[in-house]
Amino acid sequence: MMWADKLGKQLGHPTRSVLGWLVSKFFKKHNRILEENAVQLCGILPGDTVLELGHGPGLGLQSALKLLTEPTGRLIGVDYSQYMHKMASELMKDQVASGKVTLYHCDVAAMPLPDSSVDKVFHCNCYYFWPDLKRGATEIHRVMKPGGMMVTTLRLSSIAKLASKRVMPGENWRPETYMAALRDCGFTDIRMEDKQDSLITFQAIYAIASK
Ligand SMILES: C[S@@+](CC[C@H](N)C(=O)[O-])C[C@H]1O[C@@H](n2cnc3c(N)ncnc32)[C@H](O)[C@@H]1O
Repeated sequence: MMWADKLGKQLGHPTRSVLGWLVSKFFKKHNRILEENAVQLCGILPGDTVLELGHGPGLGLQSALKLLTEPTGRLIGVDYSQYMHKMASELMKDQVASGKVTLYHCDVAAMPLPDSSVDKVFHCNCYYFWPDLKRGATEIHRVMKPGGMMVTTLRLSSIAKLASKRVMPGENWRPETYMAALRDCGFTDIRMEDKQDSLITFQAIYAIASK
């Protein structure tokens, strides 16, 4: 297997291995700003039910948890990497034990969540790896409450570079492809904005789950 394929596979689905461990270190060092901004931008209220897709090591989960200060506030995370699921479960073990946080080892396209049960959704560096954007978007739309907000953050310049080196699979990394899938599945008010934080330029994609 070429190095680009190996790296792409680990970025999209880290496994317990040397490369998987290095990739998890990379996420922790470089993606905090994207995770924290996604949490801020989706407008979490203290009693909300919030879902992170593809949480990786769990930095965004930690950040979202700080905002869920009311007893009714709930945090859910899903990731289909067993390695990332275990890493985040260890990080959040007290909150998982108390029932405040629930982490599922599952695919975004098949989540064990009731219809219309989630207020806010966020994800960073995740949708490019979904094999079928429409299946993923349909499932997210199903679990979101009417009018719920979803925010996606990414660094388009870095992703485009990885795509040019064939680390990103196919064309799903393109924001316009992702945004079209959201539109087809019932999301509205879809827009992308350039953002700046600590000298880093990144993009935020917003979408409302209209029902
Ligand atoms: C590039 S990592 C990003 C991790 C973290 N959000 C960050 O920005 O540091 C992508 C994560 O999404 C997860 N992921 C990718 N596709 C997924 C899918 N279809 N269902 C669930 N998790 C998925 C991967 O296992 C991985 O942990």
